[in-house]
Amino acid sequence: MQQARRLLALLADGAVHPGPRLCTALGVERRDLRRMLNALYSLGVELHGLRGRGYRLAQPLDMLDESAVRAAMPVRAVPLLAGLEVLLEVDSTNRHLSRGAERGLGSGHACMAEHQSAGRGRRGRVWVSPLGANVYLSLMWRFDASLRELAALGLACGVAAAAALADVGVPGVGLKWPNDLVAGGAKLGGVLVEAAGAERGPVTVVTGVGINIAMPAAAGASIEQRWTDVRALCGSTRPARNRLAGVLLGRLLLACERFAANGFAGFAGDYARLDVLRGRPVEVLGRARLRGVADGVAANGALRVCTSTGTREITAGEVSVRARPREGAMEA
Ligand code: BTN
Repeated sequence: MQQARRLLALLADGAVHPGPRLCTALGVERRDLRRMLNALYSLGVELHGLRGRGYRLAQPLDMLDESAVRAAMPVRAVPLLAGLEVLLEVDSTNRHLSRGAERGLGSGHACMAEHQSAGRGRRGRVWVSPLGANVYLSLMWRFDASLRELAALGLACGVAAAAALADVGVPGVGLKWPNDLVAGGAKLGGVLVEAAGAERGPVTVVTGVGINIAMPAAAGASIEQRWTDVRALCGSTRPARNRLAGVLLGRLLLACERFAANGFAGFAGDYARLDVLRGRPVEVLGRARLRGVADGVAANGALRVCTSTGTREITAGEVSVRARPREGAMEA
């Protein structure tokens, strides 16, 4: 796959590349080139073979590049990064790091991919992950804390992701509990935290963030909720994928370090400012249906909902929340 990734990088400019020149650049035979082209086809890369002229992509690709990602990281975060893998394809960057953690990867190891064949969302959902279009990033961190103490880590990482988007000029991003990144009422991205370890710690956590950058319409059609992407929010001023990825990775590393030292307390103020549910009527769908008005989050990250029978605290993982329209407003 690394060879196929190199081939894709050569083709990424969208220009026509003659077959012999590609073979020379990659140091491979013609039949190896055909095998690599087939591998790209099977990943969904739109590739045109032009008789007698060579090959080109249907459109140029803003490919991930490890050194460009590293260069975009905030300086303070650089020493926290234990390693960075940039893959062409993987089942899920979260799964990849969980497997790595079992083999002893160091805390602060990160992984990104151009494409996920089995991207995972919260609550067992699929995360639609077309090639070259979005950011799929995971970070592994070992915490000397109990599972309970880490309950709000996903919210803190949501704050970090929203801050990274603001840093690179994406306007109007908020958080919908527990950690959906939203803009204009549509989902822009999400955070998936997967923890493994003893109840009392230490705990190995893989935090995965997916952000829609330029979702192709065909892939977007399979998403079951309203979604948006950075392209729609920024137009021609949209940030480069590598820059967004580097800033996001840095923000996540710093968030893990800070959470390990002080827990959610250092993020609560920012969460409150980004919280799009606060003060809104919500319906909590869990084992039992609950209606009320969202009233921010508790110190452990639970959603506070004021109901007719008092304030209830809802913990992540049990429920999904739908904002209901305010009194008198029409439902779209
Ligand atoms: C959500 O459902 O909102 C969470 C989505 C998390 C998606 C990211 S993409 C990178 C990482 N790898 C995965 O398989 N999932 C997360």
